[in-house]
Amino acid sequence: MSPYDADPVDRLVTAAADGEDQAVEAALRPKQLDEFIGQERVREQLSLVLQAARKRGSAPDHVLLSGPPGLGKTTLSMIIAAELGAPIRITSGPAIQHAGDLAAILSSLTEGEVLFLDEIHRMSRPAEEMLYMAMEDFRVDVIVGKGPGATAIPLELPPFTLVGATTRAGLLPPPLRDRFGFTGHMEFYAPVELERVVRRSAALLDVEIDPVGAAEIAGRSRGTPRIANRLLRRVRDFAQVRHDGLVTAEIAARALDVYEVDARGLDRLDRAVLDALLRLFGGGPVGLSTLAVAVGEESETVEEVAEPFLVREGLLARTPRGRIATAAAWQHLGLTPPVQTTRGAVPAQSELFPADEG
Ligand SMILES: Nc1ncnc2c1ncn2[C@@H]1O[C@H](COP(=O)(O)OP(=O)(O)OP(=O)(O)O)[C@@H](O)[C@H]1O
Ligand SMILES: [Mg+2]
Repeated sequence: MSPYDADPVDRLVTAAADGEDQAVEAALRPKQLDEFIGQERVREQLSLVLQAARKRGSAPDHVLLSGPPGLGKTTLSMIIAAELGAPIRITSGPAIQHAGDLAAILSSLTEGEVLFLDEIHRMSRPAEEMLYMAMEDFRVDVIVGKGPGATAIPLELPPFTLVGATTRAGLLPPPLRDRFGFTGHMEFYAPVELERVVRRSAALLDVEIDPVGAAEIAGRSRGTPRIANRLLRRVRDFAQVRHDGLVTAEIAARALDVYEVDARGLDRLDRAVLDALLRLFGGGPVGLSTLAVAVGEESETVEEVAEPFLVREGLLARTPRGRIATAAAWQHLGLTPPVQTTRGAVPAQSELFPADEG
């Protein structure tokens, strides 16, 4: 059994938060908008929304933050409350299974409070419908009783600001999406921005790091601050155990080699997939299930855990005939692509393994 079967999320370079992340994240979260690194556009747009609300002395429009995990949605929602000087109530879609759960939360909000609803795409249907009315009219209908005798008692709510976060904006029903006055689309971070994230976190964690060391970690962090912070902690361990604690580029690189995170942020599974694609199948096209068998993994693991980043990095492409490697993939693994075969010539190895699906 491979290490990925048990828990495909148990990797150093996953963007999902593990227990250790959660414990340190509170300490590493920027508290104000000017402390928040990168996301220039979202920051500027949000700053206008917040300043205008402050000027008018009213609660700002509801805000939706969308984007991949670990890019700062929860952090920004807390910053919104802090910038407004308002209290924040935190809940999530999966925690609200019944409309009644939502009614209880909404009816206990105070004026101007920020309600942070994480994973808003995972709310139940009845709760969602209650939310429409709450967002638009600051009102909910509380149903009392059951069956034919049930009555709806309208309940006025104080003006509040909903901040919704989602990794899957496409799954939000349009009526819900339309009720947000502002949507911030979070993007992956540029290496220079992640370098600033690493330096800032190092200062907070009392880690001595030189700028090139920070750049080395940033380059392996897949555009994601959460991963940058996690790699920094692993590099810190290495620097403290094997050296005097100072993080240089060389120490960062050696530490992350130990953890099998390469210069581009690929881990062992990512490289195994690329390696099989190149060495066994001549760069493809090869079907997903054949590729998965070659690396001893389930198709789902290859498709959901390894491929998204390989595709994003332009190392692998999904085509109707199967998976193919790009020139960048050959270069990254230091291999030479085979000379193109022509019809009638010896078939490429990939042609002996026809694409099975996908
Ligand atoms: N712009 C930033 N500047 C500095 N640190 C950041 C920034 N964005 C995120 N971080 C750090 O990255 C970590 C993850 O951020 P956060 O929890 O806000 O991500 P998220 O988008 O809510 O992720 P998820 O989708 O998993 O809930 C936090 O520790 C936070 O400190
Ligand atoms: Mg979050």
